[in-house]
Amino acid sequence: MTTYLSIQQAMTQGTGKVSLHGWVHRERGSNKLKFITLRDSTNLIQCVFERTKFESQWSDIDKIQVEAALEITGEIKEDKRAPTGFELQAESITIIGKSDSFPIAKDQSIEFLADNRHLWLRSRKMTAVLKIRSTVFGAIDEYFKTSGFYEYHSPIFQAVQCEGGSDLFSVDYFGKKEVFLAQSWQLYAEPAIFALEKIYTISPSFRAEKSKTSRHLTEYWHAEMEMAWSSFKDIQDHGEKLIKHIVKAVLDKHKPELEILGRDWKKLEPTINKPFIRMTYTEALKILKEKCNMDVQWGKDLRTIEEEKLVSLYDVPIICTHYPKKVKAFYMIEDPKDPTTVQGCDFLAPEGNGEIIGGSQREHDIEKIKERLIEQGEDPSQYEFYLDTRRYGSVPHGGFGLGVERVIKWVCGLDSIKDAIAFPRTMERYKP
Ligand code: 4AD
Ligand code: MG
Repeated sequence: MTTYLSIQQAMTQGTGKVSLHGWVHRERGSNKLKFITLRDSTNLIQCVFERTKFESQWSDIDKIQVEAALEITGEIKEDKRAPTGFELQAESITIIGKSDSFPIAKDQSIEFLADNRHLWLRSRKMTAVLKIRSTVFGAIDEYFKTSGFYEYHSPIFQAVQCEGGSDLFSVDYFGKKEVFLAQSWQLYAEPAIFALEKIYTISPSFRAEKSKTSRHLTEYWHAEMEMAWSSFKDIQDHGEKLIKHIVKAVLDKHKPELEILGRDWKKLEPTINKPFIRMTYTEALKILKEKCNMDVQWGKDLRTIEEEKLVSLYDVPIICTHYPKKVKAFYMIEDPKDPTTVQGCDFLAPEGNGEIIGGSQREHDIEKIKERLIEQGEDPSQYEFYLDTRRYGSVPHGGFGLGVERVIKWVCGLDSIKDAIAFPRTMERYKP
């Protein structure tokens, strides 16, 4: 039986006879020669077919089109002129899967590529992003597992809102209303800290935000953690260490992919090597006024343009804390020193990327939680299961959620969050 090497393995070996299998990335030819750039998940290699060696198969070889699946055996050798520095002199070929004329050629519109997303996944760009994405998920898992967290799963069908009712997706649940897709695992995670103390998940979250921006998806992957006995500082520290761990894993493993994406990865190094900037919302307003000439009225949430200005002043993420209570979620605890603010934090990523983490220390006073639910137009009786967490042995605790695609967008230097996931779901697109 033939042993197939990956293209990368074959190039590492560098000489001798090898068998490869993959897809046609490019092809060109003449009467006497055919050049096929073969692609697999690891790399590309130029393969040369001389007609004199393939007389009986030549008419088939001549018809090979982009994206046909092939098995090729031949001699590999270094060749500085070849696109990836190696060339394979083909000795035999089997056409495994023919390809029709591939619809994706050069210079196609974003819309066309989105309609053909299932085919566009094979592009060098998407292949590079998807490899980095796989590493990001692995790094998140690794960080939490090695920091003593249990993986814990909450339901996706939920009966309450967590982040405000306006962007909930409702579901027709056997005719029952009041069933929504998860915005966050949080309200179903807090009950579990009494069993496991430190927990995390990576799971889809859903937001019906009517935002057509480069950072909003309607379905995104959410890495969340919750821990008992925490201080607000512990929550921020875990967020910072997690992000450093993710970025380090990507830089350790994916410089070639970052190069393919045209990402200046040096810009990510400060995130690993330097402490993040920590400032309060009130300090942020002062900096915005003094350094950016932007006047934000105290009490207003930071808008995208303000966040962008703020992050442009630093080369590491900012942890912005102590937002006004009224712009944040009902479960965030008041700061004892200034109860008009909460112990909540947003992590803002550099290079115009904005919020990648939202987290907080949790309110434990049941009456305050009920009051704030009512203020937000909610019926506290729907939250009885959640309020029970404050009735039976409540302890200081907190957690955060990290938008995985937002981190991938930043790390890969992508223009849009849509390219951080295989099949993006947005306000305007749910197909293919
Ligand atoms: O700030 P958010 O709304 O916080 C929560 O959901 C908390 N319950 C998390 C927790 O404490 N367990 O969302 C958390 C993160 C944001 O910082 C952002 O990175 C991401 O989720 N996010 C989105 N990512 C892509 N598309 C969207 N529409 C997003 N909305 C939020
Ligand atoms: Mg937020």
